[in-house]
This record gives sequence, structure tokens and C-alpha cells, in this order.
Amino acid sequence: MSTAIAHPNIALAKYWGKRDATLILPAAGSLSLTLDVFPTTTTVTVGEDDGDVVSLDGVQLSGDESGRVRTVLDRVRELSGRREHAHVTSVNTVPTAAGLASSAAAFAALATAAADAYGLEADDRMLSRIARRGSGSACRSIFAGLARWNAGDDDESSYAEPLRWSGAPLAMIVAVVSSGRKSVSSRDAMRRTAESSPYFPAWVESSSALLEQMSAAVAEADFTRIGQLTEQSALRMHASMFGAVPPVRYLTAASIALFDAVVTLRASGVEAYATADAGPNVKVLCRADDARNVVDGLTALMPNADYVVAHAGSGSRIVDGEA
Ligand code: PMV
Repeated sequence: MSTAIAHPNIALAKYWGKRDATLILPAAGSLSLTLDVFPTTTTVTVGEDDGDVVSLDGVQLSGDESGRVRTVLDRVRELSGRREHAHVTSVNTVPTAAGLASSAAAFAALATAAADAYGLEADDRMLSRIARRGSGSACRSIFAGLARWNAGDDDESSYAEPLRWSGAPLAMIVAVVSSGRKSVSSRDAMRRTAESSPYFPAWVESSSALLEQMSAAVAEADFTRIGQLTEQSALRMHASMFGAVPPVRYLTAASIALFDAVVTLRASGVEAYATADAGPNVKVLCRADDARNVVDGLTALMPNADYVVAHAGSGSRIVDGEA
């Protein structure tokens, strides 16, 4: 039995669209910050007779969700040369499927726990590749802090790696406007965007360029540039979805109001930048020293949202014996 913990990550340079849906190879690379809030803890027990059984927050999963877990287990079995079934028990501390990256933490924790439970000697790069099979963004949650997912062109070359950050500590304010379940999964929404949005090719082309600019800004510890690119990437990603048929629209009036509030904050001299994923909640990047000011400023402008302050968090790890 092995237990692992992992945290969600929020992309600053977004991943949206696949070039291979089976291997989960992205259309372009991405770059994210792993957070220190909302961890997922996953236990894998190998050698059960009744098949793979998956439960999330005490509820047994079926269909697509357990299918994705099985994909990861199958990959670990293939690599370890073992065939036994497993029981997987996962506990989330984040509202599931509300655009708060719960799947990234879940599949990073699963890959880490499963590799350990099956006795697979996997380094972080291999864990990243395994996690990617469950949910693309999960490959970045193997690592602490800033991580870059290199798009690659096959299973072996598509993995995330940690980036060194020498600037002032970062913070991410999660503005929760809804904890409801999203109506369209990111998987379906990505497919629809890639298949029907006339903006998709431009999104992919511009994402690759933006990723290089952001990687350079990280190397130079240029926070302002990273922030500007973060907002650009988020808005371009959502623009590509607006062009889909039928349109994919995760942003609500409250989300847009939060983007406006962040612009107002900047005009008042507090440096903050907004981003949003497959849901209405907004995440605001700032320097850790400014986190209190950002929460106070946003609360004054948008009192109905709940604010959670996150910082750079640790990568996935085995926690056996710690509980
Ligand atoms: O890995 P998925 O299928 O949950 O896709 C996540 C996509 C975004 O969160 C919207 C962007 C990203 O890069 O994390």
C-alpha cells in the first residue's frame, strides 16, 4: 500500500488542445505554478481480486473518471511488468471539477502512489509522463513551484520539468465565485475548440511563442513580464473557446468583473495579474509580499467572492507512515 500527496498547479502559459488524445500530447507546451493549497491524497493498494476499484471522497467512480484512473494503472503495470489489480482511494480538498485543477493534483498523486505500490523505480520525469496519461496538466504537478511542460512529439519527449526561480516569492490568490461542477469537461471542450474554432490554429501558434517568452522571463526573474504574459495567455485561450461551435464559455459575469478588478488594482499601483481555467473562478498572480493588499483590494471591489491565498507548493511525494 502506498500513499502520495500532490497539489494543484495553475498554468501561467496555458495548455489547451491536444495533438494526440490517447497519449495526451499537447498541441503546445505550457508553464505553471504548483500551489501549496488544496492537496489530494491518494492511496493505491495492489493485489486485490475484485478488479480495479476507484473511490473519490468516499464515492466509488465509474465510467470515464475511473477509466482515466485505469489508464494510469495500466501504464504503471506495463512499465513494472506486473498484472495485479489495485484499489485506489483518493481524497480531494478542492471542489472537484470547478476549474481549480483538482484533476492535476489527483493524477499526479495517483502516478506517484501507483508507481511506488507496484515497485516501479520511476524518476520524476517518468512520473510526469505517467501522470500526463490521466490528465495532461497533471504532468506539471509532479514538480514544486514553476514547471514547464515540453510539448514533445511522443510519449517519451512529452514531460514537465522544474524551472529555477530567483525572483521574489510568488503568490496566487484564488478567487472562488462558484464551487459548482463545470458543465463541459476540459477534455470535451478542448476537442470542440480544436475541431471547430477558427481561432484554434492561431492559439496554438501564439502559445508556442508565448511559452518561449515566458520561459525567458522566468530565467530573468522578470515578474512584470510573466504577469503580462499570464493574462495574455488566459484571454487568448478563452478567446479560442469562444470561437468554437457551439461556443465554450467558462467565464461568467463575475469572472470578467474580477479581471476588471485586477486592472483597477494595477492602476492603483498593486501589481497583480489575472488568469482563469476551465471554470468561472479566477486566480490572481502577485508577489507574496503583495498578497494581503491584493486580497484587501479585491475584497473591496468584489465582496461576494471567497479568497484563498496560495504560494508555491511542493511537488508530489510519498507520505507513507506520516499519517
Ligand atoms: O489537464 P486537463 O485536461 O485538466 O486540462 C487543463 C487545462 C487548463 O487547466 C484550462 C489549462 C492548463 O494548462 O492547466
